[in-house]
This record gives sequence, structure tokens and C-alpha cells, in this order.
Amino acid sequence: MNLIIFGPPGAGKGTQSKHIVAKYNLFQLSTGEILRDEIKNKTNLGGEISSIMNSGSLVSDEIVSKLIEKFISKLENKNRFIFDGYPRNISQAENLGYLLEKYNQKIDLVLKLSVSLDLIKKRISGRYVCSICGKIYNEFFNPAPINADCCASKFLQKRTDDTLDIAVKRFQTYEKNTEPLIEFYKKLNLLKVVNGESPITQINEEISDLIDSNEGWL
Ligand code: AP5
Repeated sequence: MNLIIFGPPGAGKGTQSKHIVAKYNLFQLSTGEILRDEIKNKTNLGGEISSIMNSGSLVSDEIVSKLIEKFISKLENKNRFIFDGYPRNISQAENLGYLLEKYNQKIDLVLKLSVSLDLIKKRISGRYVCSICGKIYNEFFNPAPINADCCASKFLQKRTDDTLDIAVKRFQTYEKNTEPLIEFYKKLNLLKVVNGESPITQINEEISDLIDSNEGWL
């Protein structure tokens, strides 16, 4: 099965994707993480995209498309994708459809997480990510365990685009570019909307129920 999860910045896409990956043995394709890796590894592309990401805008469709095809083409990932943060506009959605068809796959379910801007501001300002294992925490809602070996406070990092100003710009970018996907996937009868303001475990159960009740998995 192949899933898409989308929603505004801080909606919980990464948090939920990690649960779904563990439960259903899927492969998380997060374009945000792939792009951040380019910056971390100081590639030519990393230099080009860092200022775009820190402005709250989208990286060009062409760059993102090239990056994702190498994952979609891998046989071991076939029909095991959760696309987290891709597509982010109609052109990317059309491109994803084309790529999946090229590799004899399709989208089975699209999950949209809904969260208000006020809550997003708090989630983003409180977010920390473990630089060792990638686990996502939040100082207000989901603090890292005390005395943990891996996620000890010295390993917890803030993202450079997690300031309030940039978060608001990312939200505006989402409204303008990504919200049209709601109608796009509704027409294809693939969309399910989930209340992203519920507790993490409750959302996780709701998503599991949607996955388990979806017919037509390969
Ligand atoms: P990306 O990394 O995808 O960022 P985003 O879409 O803004 O989403 P976030 O990662 O901020 O949030 P999330 O929804 O994953 O929330 P999380 O689970 O962490 O993209 C970054 C940038 O890369 C973009 O701005 C763009 O420039 C570029 N980019 C990426 N993809 C692109 C594409 N396809 N095309 C072009 N450019 C692209 O949760 C947030 C916090 O809330 C955490 O602290 C978490 O612990 C907490 N939390 C989560 N759920 C709950 C809950 N239910 N209750 C309480 N707290 C919760």
C-alpha cells in the first residue's frame, strides 16, 4: 500500500508517519528530511536550498522530483511508501501520479491532518528532534524522556526554520499551494481528513483504523 500524509507545518505528519512505518513496515519518504540531509551533507544542492527553506517557501518542483524518483524506482520500496510532505502542490501531485504509474504503483489512501494556526505556533516553537535517532519531541506536549541514552538533552536539536516568523510563512505557503490538494484527492476518492488536534495516540489509532478498513491493498 502507498499512503500520502499532508497538512500544515507542525500538524504531526512526521510524528504519525514514524508510528505508521513501525506498525505497517512502510518506508517513510519525507521530502523535508531528504532536503535537510542535502544541507547537512553540504552538497551543492544543499547550499542552493538552505535559504529557500529558511524563508518558508517551497523548493522547486524540478529539484524535489529528481530527488524522489531514486526512492520510488527502488524495488524494495515498492508499494511500501508513506509520502510525508510530498506532494505539496498540484503539479507535484500530478508528477507523483506519473512516477507511480511508471513504476507500476498507485496511491491507496491520502490522509490530511487538520490543525489551527494557533496550535501550530506552539507545536513548532516547542519542537526538538533527536540528532541521533530522529525522534520528534515537544517541550510542551511530548517531552523527551529524562536520562535517556539516545535522546539525552545534549542530542536534542531545533530546526533552523522553526522560528515563529518562518512558521507563519510556511503556513501561508501551505494554504496557497498545498490546500488545493484537498479537492484534487477528493475527486479521486482517496481523501480522509483526520483531526490533528487530538492526542498523538488517538490520532494514531484513528489512522490505523482507516488503513485497516481500506479495501484494495495490494
Ligand atoms: P518539512 O520538513 O516537511 O516541514 P513541514 O511540512 O513544515 O512540516 P513539519 O516537519 O514542520 O511538521 P510535521 O507535520 O511533520 O509535524 P511533527 O510531527 O514534527 O519541510 C520543510 C521545508 O522543506 C518546507 O518548508 C519547504 O521549504 C521544503 N520542502 C519539503 N518538502 C517539499 C516539497 N515537496 N516541495 C518543495 N519544498 C519542500 O510535529 C510537530 C511538533 O508537534 C512536534 O514537536 C511533535 O512532538 C508535536 N506534536 C505532533 N503531533 C502532536 C499532537 N497530536 N499533540 C501534541 N503535540 C503533537
